[in-house]
Amino acid sequence: MSEPTPITPEGVEQAVSEALAAVAEAATVSELKQARSAHAGEGSPLARFNQGLRSVPNDQKAALGKLVGQARGRVNAAIADREAELAVAEEAARLAAEALDVTAVPSRARVGSRHPLSILMERMGDIFIGMGWEIGEGPEVENEWFNFDALNMDADHPARSDQDTFYLAPEERHLLLRTQTSPVQIRSLLGRELPVYVVSPGKTFRKDELDATHLPVFHQIEGIAIDRGLTMAHLRGTLEHLARAMFGAGAQIRLRPNYFPFTEPSAEMDVWQPNAKGGARWVEWGGCGMVNPNVLRAAGVDPDEYQGFAFGLGIERTLQFRNDLNDMRDFAEGDIRFSQQFGMVI
Ligand code: PHE
Repeated sequence: MSEPTPITPEGVEQAVSEALAAVAEAATVSELKQARSAHAGEGSPLARFNQGLRSVPNDQKAALGKLVGQARGRVNAAIADREAELAVAEEAARLAAEALDVTAVPSRARVGSRHPLSILMERMGDIFIGMGWEIGEGPEVENEWFNFDALNMDADHPARSDQDTFYLAPEERHLLLRTQTSPVQIRSLLGRELPVYVVSPGKTFRKDELDATHLPVFHQIEGIAIDRGLTMAHLRGTLEHLARAMFGAGAQIRLRPNYFPFTEPSAEMDVWQPNAKGGARWVEWGGCGMVNPNVLRAAGVDPDEYQGFAFGLGIERTLQFRNDLNDMRDFAEGDIRFSQQFGMVI
């Protein structure tokens, strides 16, 4: 312990003024702590005067005791005042730093929007899920065999020409960008136990110039149902249900004879749209038919035991009819203002 210092009024006064100066200079709560321990804590000049009181003669005890006591009181009061000041200042600084201008205009990241074709494909898939069908998938880069051969399309079928179809190099691998979703018919049959009820929406590719009525990348939804005893009536009923779900209760379909290598008989399907802008009308919607026995055989199904139907229709056309859209380029340009009109569906 340090030696008590002899007590003199000048000595006490000097200790007090040094202490007050240090307290006044303390600019932060932690600096004030240091000033307190140096000038009011154990071992500080004032503490040592206090200890010195023990050894002063009795007749001076009262006067010196009062001197030292008042000196310590002044310093402690100054510390307490400064502490309060600093606390207020620090609180104010903290609040200023945390201040938030609730009237400021926020910088918002722009929200995206799902593409209406994606929304529509999902919705069409859901209609079939509601009838107990499954969603099937196939690759966009497809083997020529699935896209053409297995679908009963001859080697010299015009659609196979490289004027219409994107082939991938090298030629020997026989890969192409699928020109239709029909290869999923074969994949669905190969990958599942019978009976099979599968729809498959997805991208398809043809060498068409991009213009108001053509897209080189477009979308179809394929359907295939293979079971015992399926007839054209089942095909018709299924498509009628889809048409009503898409275009309203008054929608009807019409089948016109047509030819596809993978269906027999085959039909072109038109849909009657009672609510079309510009008046009710028939519009061509897709192709369909009873699955050709050759296709069933290619997929290892015995056509004497199982039969069924298939259909394929354009998603872009469906969206055009539903929303009265004229220019297909809008589908491809990726302008968010186009997509946003269809709203957010989550
Ligand atoms: N794949 C045919 C097309 O793209 C449509 C179709 C599918 C026809 C299934 C009949 C059966 O034109």
